[in-house]
Amino acid sequence: MNRTHKCGALRLADVSSTVVINGWVAKVRDLGGVTFIDVRDTSGMVQVQLLPETPAMRLRHQLTNETVLAVQGQVVERSNKNSALATGEVEILAQEIVVLNTAKQPPLIVANQTDALEDTRLKYRYLDLRRPVLQDTLKLRARLMKATRAYLDAQEFIELETPLLTKSTPEGARDYLVPSRVHPGRFFALPQSPQLFKQLFMMGGLERYYQIAKCFRDEDLRADRQPEFTQIDLEASFIDEAQIRAWTEGLIRHVFQATIQQDIPVPFDVVTYDEALAQYGSDKPDRRFALHLQDVTAVFQGTTLAFFQHPSVQLIHVNQPLTRKQIDALADHAKQHGASGLAFAKVDNGLTGGVANQLTAQEQTALLKASPGADGDVYLFVAGEQRTAQRAMGHVRLQLAAMLSLLDETVFDLLWVTDWPLFENTSTGLTSAHHPFTAPKPQTLEACRAEAIAQAYDVVCNGYELGGGSIRIHRTDIQTKVFELLGMSQERAQAQFGFFLEALAYGTPPHGGIALGVDRFVMLLCGTNNIRDVIAFPKTASAQDLMSQAPSEVSEDQLRELMISRVK
Ligand code: AMO
Repeated sequence: MNRTHKCGALRLADVSSTVVINGWVAKVRDLGGVTFIDVRDTSGMVQVQLLPETPAMRLRHQLTNETVLAVQGQVVERSNKNSALATGEVEILAQEIVVLNTAKQPPLIVANQTDALEDTRLKYRYLDLRRPVLQDTLKLRARLMKATRAYLDAQEFIELETPLLTKSTPEGARDYLVPSRVHPGRFFALPQSPQLFKQLFMMGGLERYYQIAKCFRDEDLRADRQPEFTQIDLEASFIDEAQIRAWTEGLIRHVFQATIQQDIPVPFDVVTYDEALAQYGSDKPDRRFALHLQDVTAVFQGTTLAFFQHPSVQLIHVNQPLTRKQIDALADHAKQHGASGLAFAKVDNGLTGGVANQLTAQEQTALLKASPGADGDVYLFVAGEQRTAQRAMGHVRLQLAAMLSLLDETVFDLLWVTDWPLFENTSTGLTSAHHPFTAPKPQTLEACRAEAIAQAYDVVCNGYELGGGSIRIHRTDIQTKVFELLGMSQERAQAQFGFFLEALAYGTPPHGGIALGVDRFVMLLCGTNNIRDVIAFPKTASAQDLMSQAPSEVSEDQLRELMISRVK
């Protein structure tokens, strides 16, 4: 009984052949003496009919869901065809069935439509993986990897590996640490990205590197973040930002074609960081709907209203009525994202409602001039420090899109966000906005220091940060200056990156690169907003593997060997 066909492959052309299929029992139906079973393998599903008084029928009581079978039989045309199934025009009349293995009653329904909780699906991930929808996603993920390799190989990039047991890489998250038994008290860090090593490849003269790289970051998890994730990571020498952007666009276009056969226009739009925040209130703008922010700070220059007495006032003009309940929900949302509140006014033969009657006639006229409205429109306001007000309004904008169903779900909107600040101001001083090896625009470092602009770029798709990269510092004097501005003492820089700083001094070529998030890319291609849907064995939102129960306790012996003691 050797397999002759995959379940999902059978068609009308196979009628009258005798075939052998292998697979799992997906469903059993008994109908007036005749039994139908759906048998599934990775290619799809086919219906098998068991006739009364046949050897196959005598096994009927063993054929429970998820039992593994070999079925031999003749392919026949179905009388009632199922157009929802690729094999729905045929079925197999079973002559012989061999039970290859039995299955316990599964704790979840193994079908696209399952009512199992996600925790159950993650605990029994091997059963969950049998669901066609998950298999389709993982197959798409494999096509993405293959297309990536094909594209980058053709551009003469070399696939190179970098170590996982290494020193900390500064991507801004906490490290996962691995204790060294041989060197008690010392630790390796799992890489947050291969950043230092890919630059070292450039110093090593390899010129074009890529890797489909595993990265590890101990950070707060979100719907698009995992502690362990995958990047398409690349780096090249003797190039400029335009070249990296062109390769990335070519790669993304190629992957879209190879996976979902969609044509993505290139080049992508380029929006500066300042413009993105000013127009969309986000550094990863979702432009699939037209709403945008307007800066109306000037209108409120002489205001006596405390709400507007701030460095920046942002307006969103909604071209349709909103209910009080909707406005209240938006106000809550604005507050959750850092705003002190949300004010509104309605257009109705002038401005009415909300803050309207507290505005002066000049303010009203200036607003209507800045953003002419029709009756029924609503103005929403947030005031505060410029970036805080913009970002809060950016969240209100997204909430409005969801509330009013403004999103065009059929499009992929890809763009570059460029000209990032080199540094971020935090309570403890300056930190790198990207990472400390990002090159500043040459004219901006000396002139404006903390306001320096980075040669950094993010590629954004439908409001997700799909990838980010930069041109790197390749000169020791500039790297030293950046460390200095970051408040990093020479000793600390030496202790953390001494080997890297030394390497810079031996003829480092100008270079730069980018990394795209594979998991996010697959999420976008298959239209899910849950990163766990696109990873075979993901962690939960609390960074656990429910199936293997990792992380787990280790024995006292293991700890002793590593010279690690428990904190009392
Ligand atoms: P960055 O930190 O921007 O850059 O990461 C690049 C891309 O990786 C993805 N990503 C993640 N995906 C899932 N879960 C996470 N926790 C997670 N963190 C990041 C995102 C992101 O755009 N070394 C630099 C790249 C460079 O400069 O060349 C880096 O890692 O899609």
